[in-house]
Amino acid sequence: MLQKVVRSTVIDAPIERVWAVLRDFNSHDQWHAVVDRSRIEGGLASDQVGCVRSFTLKDGNRIREQLLALSDTEYRSTYTIVEATVPLQRYVATVTLKRVTDGDRTFWHWESTFATPPGRERELRDMVATDVYEAGFENLRRHLHAGGAGRAARSDLAAGAPMPSRQVRLHAYGGPEQLEPANGEAPPPRPGEVRIRQSAIGVNFIDVYLRRGWVPQMLPVSATAPGILGMEAAGTVVDAGEGVGSLLPGDRVAYLGPTPGAYCSVRTVPADQVVRLPSSIDDETAAALLLKGITADYLVRDLGRVRAGTRLLVHAAAGGVGLLVCAWARRLGATVIGTVSSEEKARIARDHGCEHVIVTRDYRFADAVQRGLGGADVIVDGLGEAAREENHAALAPCGHWISLGQASGPLQPISPDWLLAKSITFSRPVVFHYAATAAVLRERAQRVWEALSDGTLKRPPVERFALDAAAQAHARLESRASIGALVLIA
Ligand SMILES: NC(=O)c1ccc[n+]([C@@H]2O[C@H](COP(=O)([O-])OP(=O)(O)OC[C@H]3O[C@@H](n4cnc5c(N)ncnc54)[C@H](OP(=O)(O)O)[C@@H]3O)[C@@H](O)[C@H]2O)c1
Repeated sequence: MLQKVVRSTVIDAPIERVWAVLRDFNSHDQWHAVVDRSRIEGGLASDQVGCVRSFTLKDGNRIREQLLALSDTEYRSTYTIVEATVPLQRYVATVTLKRVTDGDRTFWHWESTFATPPGRERELRDMVATDVYEAGFENLRRHLHAGGAGRAARSDLAAGAPMPSRQVRLHAYGGPEQLEPANGEAPPPRPGEVRIRQSAIGVNFIDVYLRRGWVPQMLPVSATAPGILGMEAAGTVVDAGEGVGSLLPGDRVAYLGPTPGAYCSVRTVPADQVVRLPSSIDDETAAALLLKGITADYLVRDLGRVRAGTRLLVHAAAGGVGLLVCAWARRLGATVIGTVSSEEKARIARDHGCEHVIVTRDYRFADAVQRGLGGADVIVDGLGEAAREENHAALAPCGHWISLGQASGPLQPISPDWLLAKSITFSRPVVFHYAATAAVLRERAQRVWEALSDGTLKRPPVERFALDAAAQAHARLESRASIGALVLIA
């Protein structure tokens, strides 16, 4: 008669992390304490159906098991013993994972059927249930907690080897034509780093400033040492360096940071710049929204202190940051007035909470703001020099001018007396200072995802370009025609 053993548990880790370990048929010598050493026969990949793992237990027994089925969509694998020094006959086991409703934990079901020599049924049933399955649950928990799965899912890579990475390089400052795709490499992660296979990369206006050479200290470029643009991306963790306990191979993640280099297909970055993505946020949305959403969060919440009744002027209101600021501020009860350069943009801005829209291509808006609202309490200004005088004129007394960008050109020095004339407060913030620690980054990212899911923010339009076509994405952003966010697809 066939024996049946069924065990299940809940693991305190997202399904992607648990599956990243279990789908590797050759990982168990790294996390299961009863397994001494294991190898895949014949050089097959450890996730290839039909492959055979040959392993030795700590007690000296030897077992050969064959992978019969593997489903990444159902998080399930089935395997059988083909030869063993333990008397488990016709042994077939299935591991199945399911996402627990809160999304951050995993239900793990492990069951098997097998025959035994007469009289040894109970002994072998207990051995499988306790020494293999229940001990396995505990061992995997410990392994995940210790961050050791980096080694497990790296078995298809030579340890410490660089990985090929498609890159878009900048050989000299200038126009979009200076961006050239090329083949490069991503180094293995050092302690505290993770290597990410990127699927979507956010394009931000700061990439244009860097490409033009406006901030050379952030991206030095020469003919012999080209630079790579890009401050954020989303994708999947490939491997993790020593000491990275919170991220594992297979985790879907996004990151942002002050060091450019995201225009590539594989990148190695500090783990404390990385956040895990909830299942409700796909990679493209994350790349489109992480930096811009966190910018909107600090602008509205911290710097602008926007609340009911705040008269808020938002420039480029249909842009990547603009749409998010409008929607968030409106939800808080602000009176939102925005500038855009076309009727089409005006329609989209209204749709995202911008109540009053001024259509202007030549930065003329102060009269309309003064007439309509009696001046602005806060201005969110990514325009820069061309809008300087109009911004001054549009502000209400004691207003706050937040100069966060310079799409029209670098802002010339501001005289204190010029501010004094209206008791104006002037801020020149950078998002990276507002997401400088892992904890703050996580907290802000979480607020952005929640704002999306509770309807505070609408997903903005996203324009997609292939990674190799980064130059076209730049030309589009600079043309003033883009609406919402732009992403590169790797
Ligand atoms: N400091 C920070 O922390 C931070 C973070 C993120 C973004 N930013 C800044 O926020 C602003 C918006 O960034 P974004 O990435 O979301 O870009 P975006 O708003 O999607 O695109 C820029 C927009 O600026 C307007 N613009 C006006 N004059 C322009 C010109 N001469 N050339 C190009 N565009 C012009 C255009 O809108 P209209 O045609 O409708 O005017 C254009 O669509 C940028 O200034 C950026 O540097 C700052």
